[in-house]
Amino acid sequence: MEKHHVDELISEQDVDKRIQEIGEQISKDYVGKEVHLVCVLKGGTFFMCELAKRITVPVSLDFMSVSSYGGDTKSSGIVKIIKDLDESIKGKDVLVVEDIVDSGRTLSYLLEMLNDRKPNSLRLCTLLDKPERRVVDVNVDYTGFAIPDEFVVGYGLDYDQKYRNLPYIGVVKFD
Ligand code: IMP
Ligand code: MG
Repeated sequence: MEKHHVDELISEQDVDKRIQEIGEQISKDYVGKEVHLVCVLKGGTFFMCELAKRITVPVSLDFMSVSSYGGDTKSSGIVKIIKDLDESIKGKDVLVVEDIVDSGRTLSYLLEMLNDRKPNSLRLCTLLDKPERRVVDVNVDYTGFAIPDEFVVGYGLDYDQKYRNLPYIGVVKFD
């Protein structure tokens, strides 16, 4: 790891407050329904747990792990499924929960694949969005924070598998 430090970008208090607001919004939007949260591992876990606790309609959860194929194919947007969902999503109201939408490649592939499984509805909720970095168009239904094009960690996001456990969002600065 290069020498670096982490500066706080969004405080724990502000993240918690925003997740509460999104939870309330989702609870309103899904009233009378059940919401099936699909968490994208590993980054989405911290956000999903906090969000799920603030949703007042019935919630079920499932997990999926994906990774982009090496350097070249990244541009083709091909994503490898490391761990598929345990349950069918057919007829369910699915809400995908992600840590961050960057180029949009991962999510656009994933959403298309999930859509082929015929859920009743399919929406996307992301804690962070870097709109400036978008290469592939992705429709984001719920966003925690739009952030500038900087490398962030914490609340599930890692730098070389570290810092996922930070309770706030920080920016990695190289010294
Ligand atoms: P996309 O396909 O380019 O949108 O890739 C999104 C994935 O890249 C996220 O799910 C993260 O795992 C990772 N990623 C993108 N930006 C950051 C960042 O600033 N910090 C940590 N991981 C990031
Ligand atoms: Mg991710």
